[in-house]
Order: sequence, then structure tokens, then C-alpha cells
Amino acid sequence: MSTTFTIDAATSRATPVSAPMKRLTIPAIRRQKGTTPLVMLTAYTVRTAQLLDPHCDMLLVGDSLGQVIYGLPSTVPVTLDMMAAHGAAVVRGSHHAVVVIDMPFGSYEGSPEKAFESAAWLMKQTGAAAVKLEGGAAMASTVRFLSERGIPVMGHVGLTPQAVNMLGGYGARGRTQAEADKIVADAVAIAEAGAFAIVIEGVVEPIAIAITQAVACPTIGIGASAQCDGQVLVAEDMLGLFERTAKFVKKFDDMAGHISRAAQTYADDVRSRSFPGADQVYQPRP
Ligand code: KIV
Repeated sequence: MSTTFTIDAATSRATPVSAPMKRLTIPAIRRQKGTTPLVMLTAYTVRTAQLLDPHCDMLLVGDSLGQVIYGLPSTVPVTLDMMAAHGAAVVRGSHHAVVVIDMPFGSYEGSPEKAFESAAWLMKQTGAAAVKLEGGAAMASTVRFLSERGIPVMGHVGLTPQAVNMLGGYGARGRTQAEADKIVADAVAIAEAGAFAIVIEGVVEPIAIAITQAVACPTIGIGASAQCDGQVLVAEDMLGLFERTAKFVKKFDDMAGHISRAAQTYADDVRSRSFPGADQVYQPRP
């Protein structure tokens, strides 16, 4: 076990800046319900965290790193060790946003005690301020167990990717009245159990609106509604790193294009011997 960070609730000494900002807190996030929408993006690496941190209220070390970073077919194979390594990097790279870390599949469903052990380990390893876990009413006792023991929990309802083998795919949820009612009831159960915020993913819009009105904590939408109390996207999706994305992704840039144009120019320069140029080589000192 290694401690890779210095606990400092105010600023990060790992990334000193000229005017350190105070890191946001969970109570401050809660208070933002119904006011300015909360901004959350995923981050998995130190450099991405540094770049996103000034713009975000929360950084999510999502288990989507399984697909985005490791090329896995789903989030199911993601492990606690993977989450810990990336979570610690994101905490080192940020000093403003609340860092929330996903509990990977298999690390929390067995029992509230198992969830506490996994969550406490993740928080000690990374310095993250909160964990996120997927599931509705069935997870309410676990959310309560963690919250009452000092672990802030973000819920995640609707399309829950860790349940892909049960759901059969990543399509929008809540198209039948029965399913819509269940998703709303799930969110209410998690909120009443003490979740400080709830991600609502991939649901038909009226469900997201109904949940946002029904719960006291902020809702964070992804493929949900602009009426949620905040929004989250996978950073690599919104940066335009992937050609294929879900319908709910808006590409705010074309990183795939930037990278491939830069790589092509580099390859051309290497092959034509115009790189390295005079500025990039060392000469003997006179
Ligand atoms: O893992 C993840 O990135 C997530 C977001 C998509 C909400 O859970």
C-alpha cells in the first residue's frame, strides 16, 4: 500500500499555482441544487485533470476508463487497483474540483460492509472526496451505511453500464411506464438514503425532470435533460477523440483530427529530415 498524496483540504501542494483556489466541498455541491448548473467531466490522468480542473465543480474518475484508457469491452472488468492508480493521479492534478471516484463492479454490491471496505481503501489510496456507485433501491442500505460513516456517495440510476449484461445494451431506459416509475423510485430511495448527488444516465427526458423535482440533492444528467442540476460527459467524448459516441454526446472539439494531423506532420518531417531542426539539437558549447 502506498500513500501517493498529501491530504490538504484547501489546496494541492502537488500542483502549486500562483493563486491557489480553495477546493470545493460536498456541502457546497449540495447547496448548488437549483442554482447554477454543476459542471462535471471525467478525468483519468494528471494532465487532463490539470486542464479540466479550473472549469469544473467535480471531476469524476469514471470506470469508463476501462473502455477509454484500456480498450476493454465494458466497465465490468475494471478493478479497484485500476481506479486507485488513476484516482491518485487526478487528485494530484487538481486543486479546485471535488474528485469523485467510481466504485468498480464487484467491489460494493455484496454487502454494505464490503462497500465500506472498498470505498475507504479507495479514498485512502487516492485522496478522492467521494465515491460513486450504480444502482437504485437495492443499493439504498449501502448508500446509507457509507454516508453515515463519513463516505459521501454519489448515486447513478437509469442506464447503469455495469449492469450491461442484465440490460442487454446501452439503449435509453424508461420507455415503458413501469420502467420509468422504477427509475424515479430508485433515485428517490438513493436520495433518501443520503446520496449527496445522483447521476441520471440515458433516460427519456421526463424521468430526469421528475427525479430532479423529487429529490433534495443535485441531479447530474448525462443523456438526461438540461433541467438536471448539472451535467457530466466523458471528457474524451466531448473533446472529439472518438468517431463513434452515444447520441447524447456533443463534441466540443475535434481532438482526433488534431492528433492525427499532428502525427502526419511529424511523420512527414521525420521522413524528410526536417525534424529535428536547428532549434531541437544540441551543439558543443564554444
Ligand atoms: O464512468 C463514467 O464515466 C460514468 C459517467 C459516464 C457518468 O459513470
